[in-house]
Amino acid sequence: MLLEHIHNKKNTLLMPTRENITLAVQHIRQGKLVGLPTETVYGLAADAENEEALSSLFTLKGRPTSHPVIVHLSSQEIVSEWATAIPAAAKHLGEAFWPGPLTMVLHRSKRVSNSITGGQDTVAIRIPAHPVMHAVLKEFGGGLAAPSANRFGKVSPTLATHVREEFGDKLDLILDGGSCSVGVESTIIGFHGNSPTILRPGMITADMIEAALQPLGWQLFCSTNKNTGIRISGNLNSHYAPNTPVSLFEWRHLIKEAHQHLHHAERLGLITHSQTVPEFLEQDSRITCVSLSDNPATYAHQLYATLRQLDSQKLHKILIERVPGTTPWDAITDRLQRASQKK
Ligand code: TXA
Ligand code: MG
Repeated sequence: MLLEHIHNKKNTLLMPTRENITLAVQHIRQGKLVGLPTETVYGLAADAENEEALSSLFTLKGRPTSHPVIVHLSSQEIVSEWATAIPAAAKHLGEAFWPGPLTMVLHRSKRVSNSITGGQDTVAIRIPAHPVMHAVLKEFGGGLAAPSANRFGKVSPTLATHVREEFGDKLDLILDGGSCSVGVESTIIGFHGNSPTILRPGMITADMIEAALQPLGWQLFCSTNKNTGIRISGNLNSHYAPNTPVSLFEWRHLIKEAHQHLHHAERLGLITHSQTVPEFLEQDSRITCVSLSDNPATYAHQLYATLRQLDSQKLHKILIERVPGTTPWDAITDRLQRASQKK
């Protein structure tokens, strides 16, 4: 697979040395925005208690101010400064999965402003595991509002170069932590009393959450985000979408479909995971074939960079083989469905 590492022309990508981590923290303290790696995707970070910084965050992303952002913290001990009436199940899940790719929607404390929550009385909290993000959070000491570092509605970045492609010289500091290991956004859960509900599937799956709750006799309330009435921007239909139209097919239809498109002399991208693409397609210069892993964790790690790479090739269409309908693939199924929604 081709993962482009573009030459650093504007010197905005900085290696995460001790000095550069301090520099990033200074930027944040001055109310500036910084691109930072997390284990899921890159985030666009701002001081969660600086209204001007938050306002420039929404402006740069092109995100409506009614869409809430996640507050990232360095450790579970300080969650109670940001959230109140924390359910016992949330504490337990925090101990099980934090630091890590889990976000919990909790009742907000007075410390959290309306700009963070989009006016709701809840706040989304995450304690990320990435060592660079952790080092920045620890030195900063407060909370960092950090949506994915992409323009609103676009595919999240999993490389520092993606962040620069999104914002160019509008963002003057990006810490380059390499490729994000998880590759899709965190699992978001909300609570009905003590029962968690999955609002956005991620690589911490329903099965994993259920297994963590089971010894205590607790259960997942439901594992879809339908009818919760909670506003969550990832639920807009065309979220996480490349510009090139995307369609999903079972393997048996995929090859036929590719063949038909080529008949009309169209340039295609083809993403598969289960089998080898027939030679006649692989060798056709109008088609870019990418074979991703049949392991969901590896597939998730590869997905966004692949979509971005294909999206840059001015193709007519990207055809993607449907992934299995089993729980470990839930987050990927969700992102592929969104990527294939018509805009
Ligand atoms: O993995 C991630 O979660 C990444 C990294 C950077 O941490 N962040 C991320 O942020 O995906 P963002 O802003 O792109 O997506 C956060 C989602 C949005 O869909 C937002 O609506 C939802 O979290 N959210 C934030 N606060 C919420 C709240 N109080 N209630 C319900 N949903 C909330
Ligand atoms: Mg996002």
